[in-house]
Amino acid sequence: MKQTVLLAGATGYIGSRVARELLSHNFALLCPVRDRTGRPAQALHELAATSAQGSLDLVEASLQDIQSLDHATEHFNADFVVSCIASRNGGITDSYAVDYQANHNLLRWAIKRNAKHFTLLSAICVQKPRLAFQHAKLKFEAELACSGLSYSSVRATAFFKSLSGQLRRVSEGKPFLMFGDGLLTQCKPIAEDELAQFIRMTLESTALSGVQAIGGPGPAITPLAQAELLAKLTGQPLRTRSVNPKLLLGAAALLSIAARFSKRLADKAEFARIGHYYATESMLHWDTQKQAYDAEATPEFGSITLEDSYRAQLAGADDQGLGDQAVFR
Ligand SMILES: NC(=O)c1ccc[n+]([C@@H]2O[C@H](COP(=O)([O-])OP(=O)(O)OC[C@H]3O[C@@H](n4cnc5c(N)ncnc54)[C@H](OP(=O)(O)O)[C@@H]3O)[C@@H](O)[C@H]2O)c1
Repeated sequence: MKQTVLLAGATGYIGSRVARELLSHNFALLCPVRDRTGRPAQALHELAATSAQGSLDLVEASLQDIQSLDHATEHFNADFVVSCIASRNGGITDSYAVDYQANHNLLRWAIKRNAKHFTLLSAICVQKPRLAFQHAKLKFEAELACSGLSYSSVRATAFFKSLSGQLRRVSEGKPFLMFGDGLLTQCKPIAEDELAQFIRMTLESTALSGVQAIGGPGPAITPLAQAELLAKLTGQPLRTRSVNPKLLLGAAALLSIAARFSKRLADKAEFARIGHYYATESMLHWDTQKQAYDAEATPEFGSITLEDSYRAQLAGADDQGLGDQAVFR
């Protein structure tokens, strides 16, 4: 008999890949979405229609409202809950509402419906929290860890998408934009489909319970190395332009003053802080004793490299969305 997964965030970038992965592994999906008529929801239907094994039920519900979720799912139960939801804008209020409150409601739902396991898609950067969305994710993760329910918190490194935003500009001969000398940060990026595979595996193996930091295949790569790789693959000469990350801190400080009078400006200050964070912090394991990032200690999964992804995108594949979440485009 098919096992059922309540998959929240199935209309999102990673959530839609997790949906595809689960459908192709014979799971029945129950997906609460905000808009059942929207294009992403239709794409889920199309995906399910082409799946020989899995099945899909889409229900419209507000995850901020437990009664709405209960009502929309009254005829369903689930063996597992997987949450790939995230604030779409990273603003302060929205991060709390989605990364904490909506996940809190999903956990209540999972416990009430006797789900066996809850898998949360999180981010490796929560290990050094300074941003509103990181605090919201950690608050929920702490709640999940002491809920008594079996769980996995998948703290992923950067997706390829986040490192693909400059592919087009470099192909057009424009310089690669980077912070400082391009050596301030490193990451071991992970392919979206392999992350989805890892998430599916957390439902099948108790060895993947608890907090799971996860990166792609090494070695770790700096922004300068990305510039070199893109120059090689596009046949363009290596051209870089440096941006001082302190500009973002300055912007955050200025906006923070005005933020006292406006939520919108408070969010803008937060976006500048997010930019500065990613400009200066590596997406690798943080060694608290050494107070340093450790590439070797960052777990690796999968075999697809960033170079493979760049090659595929240059050959016309459009799978990475060309960097919706990247700082530079
Ligand atoms: N970008 C990276 O490199 C990276 C690296 C590591 C970890 N992560 C983490 O990965 C996670 C997912 O990222 P993603 O790129 O897949 O996100 P995404 O494409 O923005 O998708 C977000 C999902 O959450 C849903 N959602 C947002 N607000 C909601 C609300 N108020 N109520 C109900 N659902 C809501 C969205 O639904 P709608 O379609 O209705 O908006 C969508 O399904 C995030 O937690 C992020 O921190 C990202």
